[in-house]
Amino acid sequence: MSEQDPSPRDRSNDLAISRRDALRISAAATGASLAGFGKTMAAAQPMPVALPGMSLTVHFQVNGNHIETLVDPRASLLDVLREQLALTGAKKGCDHGQCGACTVHVDGRRVASCLTLAAKVEGRQVLTIEGLSLEDGSLHPMQQAFIDHDALQCGYCTPGQIMAAVACVQEGHASSDAEIREYMSGNICRCGAYVGIVAAIRDAAVTMGGD
Ligand code: FES
Ligand code: FES
Repeated sequence: MSEQDPSPRDRSNDLAISRRDALRISAAATGASLAGFGKTMAAAQPMPVALPGMSLTVHFQVNGNHIETLVDPRASLLDVLREQLALTGAKKGCDHGQCGACTVHVDGRRVASCLTLAAKVEGRQVLTIEGLSLEDGSLHPMQQAFIDHDALQCGYCTPGQIMAAVACVQEGHASSDAEIREYMSGNICRCGAYVGIVAAIRDAAVTMGGD
């Protein structure tokens, strides 16, 4: 047997040492954790607490309306919007953040609502396609542009496309067709209405004063 290949007794000793080391390291780590616990608790922000399977109460604004509702801590914003608040404009396409059909705005930024925990929008402003029309009831310029440019066929992706398109203009990414395509690349249209969508965004950007 070579020098690099220890005997069974040697291996046993190595294991014994490893166990002692592990116990020592574990004890030290536990002590450190306990010592830091008070500090951690003192610095922590108040957070909603719920055990698995239980509900917690969240408060947020949806389309200007104050909402207070019980949610499963694991529920997505998309499911709460659609199944608890009956706001079915945002669509469930992939449920994995890959198609953009569920796009809504949170505090003015687009998000994939299927990847956003409802509990995370506590105190925030949510805007869905249902709240996009203007105060006088007329269509938002982006909605009108989608109609004018035939930027939809079956319409399943359209609410998400429009919410992303509004963010595209508001965030200043509508200065060219290439820039629009890049920004909108996360919104999939199975009907292939991309030419109309880009034209609609270009048009609405002028109306919205974004370009
Ligand atoms: S349903 Fe959310 S990205 Fe597809
Ligand atoms: S219009 Fe049908 S998926 Fe886009």
